[in-house]
Amino acid sequence: MIKRAIIVSGPTIEPIDPVRYISNRSSGKTGYFLSQEGLKRDIDEIIFVTGPSRFTPVGVTVVSVETALQMQAAIDDYFEDADVLIMAAAVSDYRIAEYRPQKIKKGQDRLVLELEKNPDILLGLGKKKKESQVLVGYAAETHDIFFYGQQKFDGKNLDLLVLNEISPANPAFDVDENQVYFFTKNGYRQILKMKKQDISALIWDEIFAIIEAKKDR
Ligand code: CTP
Repeated sequence: MIKRAIIVSGPTIEPIDPVRYISNRSSGKTGYFLSQEGLKRDIDEIIFVTGPSRFTPVGVTVVSVETALQMQAAIDDYFEDADVLIMAAAVSDYRIAEYRPQKIKKGQDRLVLELEKNPDILLGLGKKKKESQVLVGYAAETHDIFFYGQQKFDGKNLDLLVLNEISPANPAFDVDENQVYFFTKNGYRQILKMKKQDISALIWDEIFAIIEAKKDR
């Protein structure tokens, strides 16, 4: 049984001026499917922290945010008492160094925007997580996927890493089926290409198995 699970979903947006922003390509579908599958399981409370997205589930506590810093603050409000956190958001790695309170006019032929690094939210959570907490992260890799997958799994102190292999045979984005690998403390395994909903179900199965294994330790 899980008391509280946090699912973090969607893109973040980082405003440039009152009418413009930079963002990442993300529909929020993955987080949506995870919450739909989560609602079928023995979980008391699902907190759904999301950047702007059309995919907002019902039956969960929705916390809407825009920027990476807001996302981090929202997660911090709930993380301490959470049993599980799944970080499926496409966080903008950078934000605008200096927000312009007035609209930038299109006078110049070239415009330079300075960016400042956002925190790696998952890395921070991995540093402070308790032994009993289950932390799940995602990766999307085009090459040396096992090397980078293992590096992210270890470096962010995760319990489960879901790695998307991005290749011509598996574009991963804007498609209904996907081919992923699961990295756990027991190594990695390939998951057959299947519908994203079905992958979400397997992720929850894996999370419940990890919780059981932690209890036995
Ligand atoms: N993530 C995060 N905060 C960020 C960037 C990423 O919490 N500022 C999380 C993502 O939600 C994902 C995981 O970290 O669960 C992996 O993100 P990814 O962008 O693939 O990897 P990076 O570690 O940022 O490395 P790189 O972009 O160099 O591959």
